[in-house]
Amino acid sequence: MTDIADRPDRMPRAEKALLALLESRRSTAVGLIGEPGPSEAELRRMLAYACRAPDHGALEPWRFIVIEGGARRRASERLSECYAAENATMEPAKRAKFMAIMARVFCAAPVVVIVVSRPDRNAKIPVFEQELSAGAVCMNLLTAAHAIGFSANWVTGFAAYSAGAREVLGIAAGEKIAGVIHIGTALEKPAERKRPDLDAITTRWSDKSA
Ligand SMILES: Cc1cc2nc3c(=O)[nH]c(=O)nc-3n(C[C@H](O)[C@H](O)[C@H](O)COP(=O)(O)O)c2cc1C
Repeated sequence: MTDIADRPDRMPRAEKALLALLESRRSTAVGLIGEPGPSEAELRRMLAYACRAPDHGALEPWRFIVIEGGARRRASERLSECYAAENATMEPAKRAKFMAIMARVFCAAPVVVIVVSRPDRNAKIPVFEQELSAGAVCMNLLTAAHAIGFSANWVTGFAAYSAGAREVLGIAAGEKIAGVIHIGTALEKPAERKRPDLDAITTRWSDKSA
């Protein structure tokens, strides 16, 4: 197969720039994402790009919850209270340690976007496909943040899976948190990480019955 790099003349400059962006994107550890964050207009653009995810049946099976400013501290403190209530029998020192971590869980990055999957269970489109679409929204949001000049990280954790946290964040029955996306500026540039061995994960189908 001819590599696209073998025929750079065929690739418009904008496409080269896009590939360079995809190649250079890396998640930054949440604790290493700081100010500045996106402006309101930049965040709006990111969310608009995120919504351009494939969506079988155009069901829009996702929505956003933005946590920014003072709401980050307040939401974190509420999650810390949930953590304490849900781990009442935990060894006290360990519980206090995790409560302290939880009390700042949304406080590092200037903006946190929760991508909520809200599949329509009465639609003909399988719920799995609708949930995949929410994952695609998360990925688009990471790419858009990077393209606009910010760093981000897609995480889940206690916020996504605790019943109490779901209630605090306003996640309805039938909804799931697909991603908690922290967005801001990297305080340290992350090193590249090991990437999959393409040959180990790729096969070519051939008709064995022929
Ligand atoms: C659905 C989903 C949930 C994730 N949750 C966490 C998490 O809770 N904590 C974490 O450290 N990384 C989590 N990750 C991994 C990071 O988002 C990120 O992919 C990883 O650090 C690799 O970095 P890269 O984006 O630079 O390849 C999650 C990834 C996905 C797709």
